[in-house]
Amino acid sequence: MTFTFRGLAVAGAIVAFGGAAAAQTEIKIGYALAPDSHYGVAAQKFEEVVLAETGDQFTFTHFPSSGLGGEREVIEGLQLGTVEATIVSSGTLANFVPDTGVFDIPFLFRDLAHARAVLDGPIGQEILAKFDNVGMHGMAWGEQGFRHITNNRNAIETPADVQGLKIRTMENPVHLAAFNAMGAAPTPMAWPEVISSLQQGVIDGQENPLSVIVSVKLDEVQKYLTLSGHVYSPAMLLVSKPFWEGLDDTQKAAFEKAATEAAAAMRGYVDNVEKSGVETLKERGMQVNALSAEEKAKFQEAIASAYEGYYETYGKDLVESIVNFK
Ligand code: PAF
Repeated sequence: MTFTFRGLAVAGAIVAFGGAAAAQTEIKIGYALAPDSHYGVAAQKFEEVVLAETGDQFTFTHFPSSGLGGEREVIEGLQLGTVEATIVSSGTLANFVPDTGVFDIPFLFRDLAHARAVLDGPIGQEILAKFDNVGMHGMAWGEQGFRHITNNRNAIETPADVQGLKIRTMENPVHLAAFNAMGAAPTPMAWPEVISSLQQGVIDGQENPLSVIVSVKLDEVQKYLTLSGHVYSPAMLLVSKPFWEGLDDTQKAAFEKAATEAAAAMRGYVDNVEKSGVETLKERGMQVNALSAEEKAKFQEAIASAYEGYYETYGKDLVESIVNFK
């Protein structure tokens, strides 16, 4: 395994390739978070299982911490065939397969078990298969957990507390509509710009799951954490279509096994951080409050107008079939 970052990309790739037999195929895998995050753990599991199943046919070069740029750029790299694999959030996926946006609707899933069952079931698998039409192959759904709001302005208990809040959202129209409906001042922004924008006060806050808040140490730049759980955050393990089509059936089976185990590792990480993350962030000095069911209901009311748009885009039947999925 070789880890490398943007400036060292070429050198890292050469080092990784240098000691390898000429027949080995290099897999460049890019992701936005650190090697010890849920993405890093999943990427390492993916590599471990591919290597165990295929012997010395492949080498992996990891580009963690946005080493290949923002998630949109990495996805475009997959389409071009210049990057072989990635793990990404649903932040920009709807720009490539619009149907994925349905999973970004706030207050759609009851809990992690509900979300996992939908993604692993027919609705999730049908949407995963659509990536084959846009130059990629969706291998498995992973996840980040439920997203929560952090900011430096004030503790958030009611929708009034987010009025005018300069909050960074992912470049995702579903999230943008929800924060507009709440009366916040949302700014869609690629992840690599977020920390410096928080430090400089360009934005007051952002929203991400505990897996991200803990692994990125957002407590160093954010004071308040509100456990809003306003939306579930799926992630996806994808490979480039040209790369996928170059594999034989035995290799494909190895990659499928590896993707299943990588997604399980990602979910395992999320299960752990959901248990320990709040305590960790309190110890690091964050002021944390959880929304009660009644307080959450007020946020649901505040975004009711956005739901009309979601029904129009995705169909009320589909949204309801996800909500009612058992
Ligand atoms: O907020 C985002 O953009 C994503 O959740 C992140 C942190 C890049 C992980 O995919």
